[in-house]
Amino acid sequence: MSMLEIKNISKSFRDGSEENHVLSGLSLSVESGEIVAVLGPSGSGKSTFLSIAGLLLSADSGEVFIGGKEVSKLPKSKWTRYRKEHIGFIFQSHQLLPYLNSADQLTLFQDKKNVSKVDAMELLKELDVDSCKKKYPAKMSGGEKQRVAIARAFVNDPEIILADEPTASLDAKRGRVVVQMIRDEVKKRGKVAVVVTHDERILDLMDKVYRLENGRLTEISNS
Ligand SMILES: Nc1ncnc2c1ncn2[C@@H]1O[C@H](COP(=O)(O)OP(=O)(O)O)[C@@H](O)[C@H]1O
Ligand SMILES: [Mg+2]
Repeated sequence: MSMLEIKNISKSFRDGSEENHVLSGLSLSVESGEIVAVLGPSGSGKSTFLSIAGLLLSADSGEVFIGGKEVSKLPKSKWTRYRKEHIGFIFQSHQLLPYLNSADQLTLFQDKKNVSKVDAMELLKELDVDSCKKKYPAKMSGGEKQRVAIARAFVNDPEIILADEPTASLDAKRGRVVVQMIRDEVKKRGKVAVVVTHDERILDLMDKVYRLENGRLTEISNS
């Protein structure tokens, strides 16, 4: 059974009098322990797709299943709670809060019911930023901030990690390290990660690579 299953998603935005068909019958299936990349030029619908997969946006039609459960039919009033428990997001820029040190960035978001599942300090150690525990974002490098953001995405032990251009603000070397760390966490904890990217240099770290074109995903060979 696929941990994340997206079936036949379509989404249009109204652009003046025109309908802008962004996604048309997009499907994707990802198993536990898999990290996959989605490539595509700017404006091809990558963020729209990720937002629908992460219950941030509703599709016009199609379904999203997580762990076999059709989550897209949950009432919207339950989406926030569901996201918090099951989905971790990593964005292009780290989106850390300026007035919290790294330890508090994680514990603030930690779901109290889940505290026993993942140790926030252990995650910071795994991502090699435990030295930043007491540091505020302004005193940290781009790579350090992004790694704290990754730790935060994993802190509630979500099944699904959705990353939107996580290396865009980093140089090639740091970008690679960050994706390697996402990959290691996915493998170690049996998660699913979908990484939207322009960055062709990280594709060898992916189990599968898809291109988003004409509103659908096509698997492309990964090498
Ligand atoms: N909330 C919105 N309202 C109207 N159009 C949108 C909205 N979000 C995205 N779009 C349009 O959908 C298309 C895909 O956008 P997006 O998913 O952000 O692409 P990408 O992440 O691949 O750059 C673009 O043409 C964009 O202008
Ligand atoms: Mg985008």
